[in-house]
Amino acid sequence: MTHAPQAKYRKDYQAPTHTITDIDLVFDLHDTATLVTAISAVQQQTDLNQLVLDGDNLTLKSVRVDGADWSDYQQTEGQLQLNNLPETFELEIVTEINPEANSALEGLYKSGGAFCTQCEAEGFRRITYYLDRPDVLAKFTTKVMAEKSLYPFLLSNGNRVDEGELENGRHWVKWQDPHPKPAYLFALVAGDFDVLRDKFITRSGRDVALEIFVDKGNLDRATHAMTSLINSMKWDEQRFDLEYDLDIYMIVAVDFFNMGAMENKGLNIFNSKFVLANDQTATDSEYLGIEAVIGHEYFHNWTGNRVTCQDWFQLSLKEGLTVFRDQEFSSDLGSRTVNRINNVKIIRGPQFAEDASPMSHPIRPEKVIEMNNFYTLTVYEKGSEVIRMYHTLLGEAGFQKGMKLYFEHHDGTAATCEDFVRAMEDANGVDLTQFRRWYSQSGTPVVSVTSDYDAIKQTYSLTINQMTPATQDQKEKLPLHIPFDIELYAKDGSVFELISGGKSLHHVLNVTEASQTFVFDNISEEPIPSLLREFSAPVKLEYNYSDAELAFLMIHASNGFSRWDASQMLLAKHIKANVALSEKGELSAISWPTHMVDAFRGVLLSENLEPALIAQFMTLPSHNEVSGWYQRVDVDAIAQVLQSLTVCFASELADELSAVYHNLKQTEYSIDHAAIGERDLRNTCLQYLAYTPDGNQLVELQYTNSTNMTDTIAAMKAANDAQLECRASLMADYSEKWQHDGLVMDKWFVLQGSNPAKNALENLKVTMSHPAFSLKNPNRTRSLIGSFLNMNPVNFHDRSGAGYRFAGQILRELNSRNPQVASRLIDPLLKMAKYDDERQNLIRRELEGLKALDNLANDLFEKVTKALEG
Ligand code: TRP
Ligand code: ZN
Repeated sequence: MTHAPQAKYRKDYQAPTHTITDIDLVFDLHDTATLVTAISAVQQQTDLNQLVLDGDNLTLKSVRVDGADWSDYQQTEGQLQLNNLPETFELEIVTEINPEANSALEGLYKSGGAFCTQCEAEGFRRITYYLDRPDVLAKFTTKVMAEKSLYPFLLSNGNRVDEGELENGRHWVKWQDPHPKPAYLFALVAGDFDVLRDKFITRSGRDVALEIFVDKGNLDRATHAMTSLINSMKWDEQRFDLEYDLDIYMIVAVDFFNMGAMENKGLNIFNSKFVLANDQTATDSEYLGIEAVIGHEYFHNWTGNRVTCQDWFQLSLKEGLTVFRDQEFSSDLGSRTVNRINNVKIIRGPQFAEDASPMSHPIRPEKVIEMNNFYTLTVYEKGSEVIRMYHTLLGEAGFQKGMKLYFEHHDGTAATCEDFVRAMEDANGVDLTQFRRWYSQSGTPVVSVTSDYDAIKQTYSLTINQMTPATQDQKEKLPLHIPFDIELYAKDGSVFELISGGKSLHHVLNVTEASQTFVFDNISEEPIPSLLREFSAPVKLEYNYSDAELAFLMIHASNGFSRWDASQMLLAKHIKANVALSEKGELSAISWPTHMVDAFRGVLLSENLEPALIAQFMTLPSHNEVSGWYQRVDVDAIAQVLQSLTVCFASELADELSAVYHNLKQTEYSIDHAAIGERDLRNTCLQYLAYTPDGNQLVELQYTNSTNMTDTIAAMKAANDAQLECRASLMADYSEKWQHDGLVMDKWFVLQGSNPAKNALENLKVTMSHPAFSLKNPNRTRSLIGSFLNMNPVNFHDRSGAGYRFAGQILRELNSRNPQVASRLIDPLLKMAKYDDERQNLIRRELEGLKALDNLANDLFEKVTKALEG
């Protein structure tokens, strides 16, 4: 690095010196030299007659103020400073940009044959010089000019207001967005597409045209996205009382995209992976992912666009809230319990891991070098848990009252997290002073509980202690306001009423102190407590359950989530005990108690659990999740123990697994939630059956007879994980069939990357020359390379260091090509402190190699320096 990049601090926020009320953009699109003319109406807000605009990678062509050439300016790296300006003026800036050379996929770039944009968080400054910050809201008008034969569709935000023909086979379209917005919500697309059209009539009777643009030939893969969009629009009216506010809603699917999707006003741009699906190309979980992401971007129209963020430190204001909304949408449409389990797994797995890593930060960060690094599990998923806690504390009605007040006060403005808390407080007449700490404190609280039963007084007490371990970013921690949901069970499965000091208590306890004891009266026998029900706060729970108590809760707890959670605690106890044996080299002592296996047998045969939920019970915690339980991770010991548990279930439960597998055979394929659940359970059984003597035959048969991608991939995954003989032929057959289609090949690349075989890295390197693979495409890179780094623990962490060296080499290449993708890929290396000294040294060597690069991007700089300081 020639010079260290500058950090920005939340405390330094200052209102903009100028506002921009209107901006008129003209794009003259050409592959390598696009001209952008931006005419802004600017108003000075302070007594400073100087304006500093953001700009990045731009060639400045001209500057005019009120129609006259303006030369009183300086250009520095990243900024254009204009001096001696009038108070109110029209600013015209012409810049030239090169979309074809834009491999970072930020700003205006080419994806396949189409032009498209990505402006969040700070990409607009790669298009023109501007006040590229979310608290400057302007009305946008956009005129797009391009060659008509190559780019028949010219799109931007808002409504199409005019169009016309030009010379040389070019044409133009003009768009006007009536809603003032920050620059990060600007979008432009030019290309040739197939369009799926539908319409939605809002509850007040307005017609909204719905258009989904996909690559030619892909129309039959767009219907699920359209259904999901219509369901989203309906749901937001019904559950949140929110209606769409333009006459048109467009979604464009592109193949080159750094993230999942983007909520640009009226013109969402999506990674094609979250649009394209039919039963031959996509799995059930991909269908559900499309539903969730379509919902997420749609819900941003109110939580993100109508009310946006004051500054990027407030990102969770829109993201945490919108994730909460999309989770609720999926839960109302499908299985609430299964959705909750999947969301909780993300918090307990990767989010807890992030919060224990050098990148630990509060959901509202205090210090940022590269904003793109803060689109994190913490801001999104923990942010959503914080929103969920308001919902738990205030109930649906109280929460909706708060939302209503939030929109009343902040619609059309750029708001803060503080504004949101205040709306919840004011609407409900509550004091959330201590609750605010969730926004400023990082790390995962550990809540340890002890219990005491007094048979004579018939009282039961729970002592709840909370402690948040120090994190790299923040040493001092304070007690949080933790909603702690409990139930107490009698042996016959009935629930004790919670009475304390003669008064009835709500089942959600308000834990606010470092240590607090709750005493319950009239408890006629020692109860079994169900704790942190529904995962009512994002914390680690410690309570010394016996196996019998957990087996009891697996059957008798009153809700599915608690039953599943008990099963996970039972597994965790025995996995930990066996990992300890394995670490001592006592491999032959690894064993699994019969009562544990029997508890799972009971679940498998249960008639009152929905199949999708049984599948969740039968899915073992991943290697990553188990690793999260330890300060120091023994990669091989954990892998051995999980393998042993899989083999144990496969042999002990072989008959039951086989019966369920054969009973659930479907004659017809449909994508309703019940059918998805049954396929999930059936395919979960197959993953175990792969380890039985008939495994190879069964898996091969399922692959051959499969009529849909869900069953096909399940067979391939079973063959891959269990290293079956048929693996090679199934992989070859699939590749033969789909090699022309990168998106469908991604699932195959994931299996190559996560291949547990000893020679997986060598194979992976060969796979990089597969015709469908390219490091230029983020989806391909994440599928093949990302799965090796994240889902192939034994090979990635191999003592030789070969996995780390490979990662280092890929990261050096991506650092210059696409820093955002590089920065996501590097995360597993940041967690080096969790491994033994030998491995730590090998990882450190790679990080130091990166740090020495003279073109190290801010994205990697921020993470690498934090990891090396840790
Ligand atoms: N706002 C988007 C979402 O959560 C996130 C996003 C899409 C994004 N593309 C991005 C963030 C590129 C940073 C960079 O829906
Ligand atoms: Zn979002």
